Amino acid sequence: LRSAAGAAGVVGLGVLTPRAVGAVDHATTSPTGAAAATTVTASDPGRTVVFHGPQQAGILTPLQRHAAFLALDVTAGSRAELEELFRALTDRARFLTTGGTQVSGGPGAPPSDSGVLGVDVVPGGLTITTSVGASLFDHRFGLADRKPARLRAMDTFADDALDRARCDGDLLLQVCADDVDVVVHAVRDLTRATRGAMQVRWRQDGFASPPRPSGTPRNLMGFKDGTANPATGDPRTMGDVVWTKAGTVAAVDGLPAVVEPAWTTGGTYHVVRLIRMLVEFWDRVSLHEQENMFGRRRDTGAPLTGTHEFDDPHLERDPTGDVIQMDAHIRLANPRSPGSERLRMLRRPYNYDAGTDANGNLDMGLVFVAFNQDLDRQFVAVQKRLEGEPLVDYISPFGGGYYFALPGVRAADDWYASRLLA
Ligand code: HEM
Repeated sequence: LRSAAGAAGVVGLGVLTPRAVGAVDHATTSPTGAAAATTVTASDPGRTVVFHGPQQAGILTPLQRHAAFLALDVTAGSRAELEELFRALTDRARFLTTGGTQVSGGPGAPPSDSGVLGVDVVPGGLTITTSVGASLFDHRFGLADRKPARLRAMDTFADDALDRARCDGDLLLQVCADDVDVVVHAVRDLTRATRGAMQVRWRQDGFASPPRPSGTPRNLMGFKDGTANPATGDPRTMGDVVWTKAGTVAAVDGLPAVVEPAWTTGGTYHVVRLIRMLVEFWDRVSLHEQENMFGRRRDTGAPLTGTHEFDDPHLERDPTGDVIQMDAHIRLANPRSPGSERLRMLRRPYNYDAGTDANGNLDMGLVFVAFNQDLDRQFVAVQKRLEGEPLVDYISPFGGGYYFALPGVRAADDWYASRLLA
């Protein structure tokens, strides 16, 4: 890998320095930002999201407008080559997300970009989140005893129509930025720098709509999506909902006890589901029926029992589903009954629009993304509760996977997977 990438003039060259400050009013945000993960950030070419830290960016980070999801299969042949791959990915991610300028020609040399587009690198709110799939822990690299306890190939649920070529993969790269050119540039740079060590298995691009007229962004069914997310600015809640804890996980909710390997601290289960929306059918459904399926109003996002978007649905005052149906999406996803706080997850979804299919039907939908401390206790349990909900007639899950987002890269001498491969 190193020689191939080195020959292309990408990996291991030059000194990485922060982009010169001055031309743009740089805003540097922590991965958490001030807002919830499902608010959308405005475009600012100079904005950087902090790269180093105990956890990766792109998880609690407020939604950037554009995203690409790349599942990859590792073709590196040994553990040493796998380490080189992670080191190369780290170098490029650090460089790109900080808007670094690569000084390769010594003092006075003109700043160059990463050699792809011929312009300076613009950080543009870029985050690169690197996650591993269960297949990375097969026989190839001797990592079987280090697999996160719940990680496996994605399950097939009752209403799925999965295309296995669009599922799973050894790695997942989630690349998000305020502008689409920044995402595209990062994807090209990352794939070029790692050529020979991994190849793309599937890719799905996504976008977040700006809030219309305000508040939470909308999905392509026209509803606000992300309203009831847990507060990303509250470390205690995130410690219960998002971050996986190494060590023994006690048996709960019918799940067996498991032991999470020591290296998993600072990581999280990263679920991606590619869900097509059958929008031609959806658009023929009355507003009343649409709202009943979710249990929320389309215009304001308010629960049908309330007035404002963030009102509590007070399901306990509607125990027989007179207002919010018993099979409404929000009631099934979060019954708000004793113990159901254990089901909560952090959703970070993107819309996708892939043109039209061979029959001329619109090919669009949702890249459902969720981060959870425990895959089975949270995502899988909720997905099973949603089986058979009225919404299933209007959606068709066709791909995605279960991954584990690696702990963060802590400092300039650290790299992705350093503790996994230690
Ligand atoms: C809530 C849409 C798939 C889990 C919502 C809401 C909408 C929505 C409009 C209400 C607003 C909000 O709180 O965000 C959709 C659509 C889907 C989809 C269009 C598929 C195309 C899923 C999947 C899961 C899920 C696959 C997990 C297995 C949740 C959860 C909530 C929620 C946990 C919050 C419930 C609450 O606490 O009130 N979804 N969703 N959704 N959805 Fe989905």
